[in-house]
Amino acid sequence: MAFPERRMRRLRRTPAMRRLVAETRLSVDDLVAPLFVREGIDEAARIASMPGQSQHTVASLLVEGKRLASLGVPALVLFGVPDTKDATGSGASDPDGIAQVALRELRGSLGDELVLIADLCLDEYTDHGHCGVLRADGTVDNDATLELYREVALAQACAGAHVVAPSGMMDGQVAAIRDALDGGGFPDVAVLAYAAKYASALFAPFRDAVEVTIAGGGDRRSYQQDPANRREALVEVDLDVAEGADMVMVKPALSNLDVVAEVRRRVDIPVCAYQVSGEYSMVKAADERGWIDGPAVAAEQLLSIKRAGADFILTYFAAELAEALGG
Ligand code: PBG
Repeated sequence: MAFPERRMRRLRRTPAMRRLVAETRLSVDDLVAPLFVREGIDEAARIASMPGQSQHTVASLLVEGKRLASLGVPALVLFGVPDTKDATGSGASDPDGIAQVALRELRGSLGDELVLIADLCLDEYTDHGHCGVLRADGTVDNDATLELYREVALAQACAGAHVVAPSGMMDGQVAAIRDALDGGGFPDVAVLAYAAKYASALFAPFRDAVEVTIAGGGDRRSYQQDPANRREALVEVDLDVAEGADMVMVKPALSNLDVVAEVRRRVDIPVCAYQVSGEYSMVKAADERGWIDGPAVAAEQLLSIKRAGADFILTYFAAELAEALGG
């Protein structure tokens, strides 16, 4: 008997052979670019903890939106950073709030060329930094927050969002938002649910980007999921699907690939994963030190997120990768 019995290396011999048998391919169509728009600045401002990313002005956001469209990136997800914050995060639903102003401009100039996804949350807009409103005892009031999310959804839809993406992990948020959109004349606006969102230390650079500090050194563990739990994520996904989510997300991506894979098997609607700020910044930091080849590591990680089952990926590498893919 010949040894080895099975020669796996035959199909790895040449680049063309490897391309032929590749099971997973990363394409520009898989990418969603997260972007930040900051109220009250005259010039785009670099985000120190996220090399290559900026807080945009409305004008520079438009330029970036056009660039993404010309690279073939199909979608962006927008985060607004207001000039002033208050207890109820009123800027989030203000028709003249920064996200709404930006969405109107983007939709006006890009039409349907890019899918405009509006992150739907209050934390960027609240002075205490939580994703919902607080009771007198400082805890997050779930149902009072849902009422505000309804208003945010309507403001974002009215401003031109194709998709709203609730990221606050309040119970019942998808049903409340779906109901508000349908009742408000926006039955065609889709809901992308941050369904399995874990309380993660990897969100730290993002909080610089949106200038959020959680009051009193607090955290989000009373609403975001415990990374210890996998089955709980499936319950969250089932609930969001039952409440009317059109697409579901798992976040962060790389530390939860098991969850991505299980969710992919479980539902038939699109599943995406969010490669979050900390995942991005770790690659950038190590690349800057010459310790790793950043673009190669990014491509490898994004491929593995796709292999795990994500239909598309929210990633700060979107533009960079689209350029590399020759978009
Ligand atoms: C909440 C929100 C967060 C992120 C997306 N939406 C931060 C949080 O939950 O604290 C994190 C994204 C990232 O880290 O890239 N509105």
